[in-house]
Amino acid sequence: MQQQFITVKELYRNQEEYIGKTVKVAGWIRTSRGSKNFGFVELNDGSFFKNMQIILADDKLDNFKEISKLPISSSILVEGEVVSTEGAKQPIEIHATNIVVEGESDSSYPLQKKRHTLEYLRTIAHLRPRSNTFSAVFRVRSLAAYAIHKFFQERNFVYAHSPIITGSDCEGAGEMFRLTTMDLNNIPKTEEGNIDYSKDFFGKEANLTVSGQLNAEIMALAFRNVYTFGPTFRAENSFTQRHASEFWMIEPEIAFGDLEDDMELAEDLIKYIINYVMENAPEEMEFFNSFIDKGLFDRLNNVVNSEFKRITYTEAVELLQNSGHEFEYPVNWGDDLQTEHERYITEQVFNAPVFVTDYPKDIKAFYMRMNEDGKTVRAMDLLVPGVGEIVGGSQREEREDVLLERIKELGLNEEDYWWYLELRKFGTATHSGFGLGFERIIMYMTGMSNIRDVIPFPRTPRNAEF
Ligand code: 4AD
Repeated sequence: MQQQFITVKELYRNQEEYIGKTVKVAGWIRTSRGSKNFGFVELNDGSFFKNMQIILADDKLDNFKEISKLPISSSILVEGEVVSTEGAKQPIEIHATNIVVEGESDSSYPLQKKRHTLEYLRTIAHLRPRSNTFSAVFRVRSLAAYAIHKFFQERNFVYAHSPIITGSDCEGAGEMFRLTTMDLNNIPKTEEGNIDYSKDFFGKEANLTVSGQLNAEIMALAFRNVYTFGPTFRAENSFTQRHASEFWMIEPEIAFGDLEDDMELAEDLIKYIINYVMENAPEEMEFFNSFIDKGLFDRLNNVVNSEFKRITYTEAVELLQNSGHEFEYPVNWGDDLQTEHERYITEQVFNAPVFVTDYPKDIKAFYMRMNEDGKTVRAMDLLVPGVGEIVGGSQREEREDVLLERIKELGLNEEDYWWYLELRKFGTATHSGFGLGFERIIMYMTGMSNIRDVIPFPRTPRNAEF
């Protein structure tokens, strides 16, 4: 059935070919207006951000009255001639000769022409993809995902699938969603009174993954360059605009690569995604730049044409302490940088993306490579204006003895990491990687300020509708 309908995208992109021809299109009515014997319908067929104008004329359509009264969001099948409309808002339109109604919408359809708040649209996640804003966001999201695969595949990286269910806590932050099939009213206990996970489905504690990194490391030490790209889960009870409980992460891992290589890769990847989306979604990007964030194009152009800055954590702390700026949270060496500090660095000092490297070991994960000073690790965070951190990565500790010492120092269970330690025993290699938050880069590219508005069906605390 679908084959008989031409897409609106095809009509717009190759207009010359279709002018004067009769075509069939299928879509939903976005707006409809008209007079007694003449009417205009803006049709969206989902293939393209822009609508196709359909001209209804009483003398050409048997069911003119029925069609011109159809409520917004009704779906119709249209046959008609493509006509050039030079000088008009749209370059072409279709003069309908036959229209079949597929599904008449109820007139209570909530997305009427007036602008709705993003908060309201979140409550109708089943309909919001039909609005201009969300149509643009989700298409950009799809294109960005493709760009990511394209980038890595062109560089011969292997796409490694890391498990969603895992027994390990990669970040050691205890922010995992537990998985169990145990009867919660009758939980088996050990003699010591602890929960007896040996009786559970997997015979051990199991969680939703917070990161695919540890598995990516396994694969990198066989394939050299790999990447994962999939959903990750964090039970952080935070209600910020930048945190979701379920988000997608891109995690490349490179063997025989150090932190410098890692940063170069992150910079290349981000520039590639932005360029790809700018080229392949020009209408959507234009919409964001006009209606969501007027400074967007300037910022994105600045990013693709500039070299990302690099400073160490220690330099960042000094810079903040000497800035003369009053921060809500004081800046002390050894403390994590707060959002206000990150924003000050990227927005006020550099006005560009900045890699902050070599953080104190005590605020970073166990697997990061220890520096010679014994106090800092080869970590990097990439901070960008407007969004803050979008990448977190590091060179990994490849020395078995140092790694084991860190695991013990942090009170982690050595047995849980037996295979991770063995990677260091059987031909260890310098290796590095990072995690790019997929939603964070989408926010950055679209100017959308809430993570709930770049995920079709967001999962955040107290919210799992749809
Ligand atoms: O800095 P994070 O926690 O790093 C890791 O998980 C490493 N294992 C990655 C690696 O080296 N392979 O997270 C990486 C990125 C952050 O910079 C952020 O962009 C995103 O993931 N992120 C979140 N995005 C949305 N909601 C959340 N709750 C997020 N937590 C992290």
